[in-house]
Amino acid sequence: MDDRELRARMAPELPEGLLAHIDRVVEIADALARRHGLDVPRTRLAAQGHDLLRGLDDAEWLARAQARGWDIDPVEQAEPVLLHGPLGAEELCERFGVTDEQVLHAIRWHTPGHPDYTRESWAMFLADKVDPRKVERWPALAEVAERAEKSLEDAALAYLDLTLARAIEAGWQIHPMATLTRNALLRRR
Ligand SMILES: [Fe+2]
Ligand SMILES: [Fe+2]
Repeated sequence: MDDRELRARMAPELPEGLLAHIDRVVEIADALARRHGLDVPRTRLAAQGHDLLRGLDDAEWLARAQARGWDIDPVEQAEPVLLHGPLGAEELCERFGVTDEQVLHAIRWHTPGHPDYTRESWAMFLADKVDPRKVERWPALAEVAERAEKSLEDAALAYLDLTLARAIEAGWQIHPMATLTRNALLRRR
């Protein structure tokens, strides 16, 4: 399974805007992987699959997680969009034949990141965050894009700092994994 084959199989299920976002993320992830000497096919595959279920709504995410018998974290209950990565990874495996556990792990955790992320996973994660459309809406992300050219882990830390600061300011809950991921990146710096 390569990213092109996966794109062809996913495309009929996705709204146009989401497909365009995924196409941009694959290209940015590809460039980051080449720049940092990473496994390009694996990075592209994770980028291609990352938002398979982003187009669902809160009720559908919760229903699918319940149907799987998952323990839903209270933060996920309040923000069901957090479930689109974990649910997407399951469906990519079950319905689309994606079996690379590193790719599925990257997709599962692409919203908060994960302490065990590989550099390929970070390349996919960052490519998603610095989609030019997202930078337009939140210009602070431009700095994350700039840092990613030099160091993926520095850029990931800068991204988590930004999102956590924004969550505190806005009074939003913080996903526990985002905190664990940031702590791990801080220790490694
Ligand atoms: Fe996503
Ligand atoms: Fe995305």
